[in-house]
Amino acid sequence: MSASPSLASSLSTLVARLRAAGCVFAEDEAELLLTTARTPDELDAMVGRRVAGLPLEHVVGWAAFCGLRIAVDPGVFVPRPRTEFLVRQATALAGPRTVVLDLCCGSGAVGAALAASLDRPELYAADIDPAAVRCARRNLAGTGGLVFEGDLYDPLPAALRGRVGVLVANAPYVPTEAIGLLPPEARVHEARVALDGGADGLDVQRRVTAEAPRWLAPGGHLLVETSERQAPLTAAAFARGGLVPRVIACEDLDATVVVGTLPAHA
Ligand SMILES: C[S@@+](CC[C@H](N)C(=O)[O-])C[C@H]1O[C@@H](n2cnc3c(N)ncnc32)[C@H](O)[C@@H]1O
Repeated sequence: MSASPSLASSLSTLVARLRAAGCVFAEDEAELLLTTARTPDELDAMVGRRVAGLPLEHVVGWAAFCGLRIAVDPGVFVPRPRTEFLVRQATALAGPRTVVLDLCCGSGAVGAALAASLDRPELYAADIDPAAVRCARRNLAGTGGLVFEGDLYDPLPAALRGRVGVLVANAPYVPTEAIGLLPPEARVHEARVALDGGADGLDVQRRVTAEAPRWLAPGGHLLVETSERQAPLTAAAFARGGLVPRVIACEDLDATVVVGTLPAHA
């Protein structure tokens, strides 16, 4: 929005409004809203949505992830900073022209970050939620990545079987009973299908893992984000699927990833 003499006072009013609504980083948010809104009416509408509890990323329409601006439409899962650890691990395992599959891609944040960090990957992504797929197609435009809509591997071209070098999946892993404990920004404003992982949180992960060996190339890797508590169960599911698992964690990001490798001579 264009600068005006009253900008300082509107900034402090805005900060006070956001703080009263419980926004912890009220100053940062106020500045972002002020610089994003093109008119006072738009600013008013944005502040109203934020004060009503919408995630900031849904209000401004994008999230920062791995140094990129990822478009995030209302209802679509907002990429979390901890998932940057998944990207880092996948980057370390991929060579030039690796075939990358981002399952449960949501906004396509992980795939977009891998497209930016890898040397000419052949990128595929898929999600069951049409709103997420629309977002992912926008975020992967220009990367050459293809985004499919459907249940896990179902919508993927059969020709991809046995060719995937790096398969990443940040599938939903919140146990159903714990959904009620999530902050309202997630519980109310993100799609249930993006969060709910079933009774122990591992329903979708188990399905991803069981079918992964059919899609991985020999020596290929599956990487799944999970929680520290669930990691032994995730790793056991990998082993049952014929993958050799290892658990890696990053304390700073509170992130845990299980990496499973398909033996080269399976
Ligand atoms: C936790 S979100 C992660 C999104 C994205 N990977 C990220 O890290 O920002 C999980 C995603 O899995 C998708 N999903 C849930 N069940 C699925 C299924 N059976 N097949 C495909 N996608 C699914 C949801 O729609 C949601 O976008």
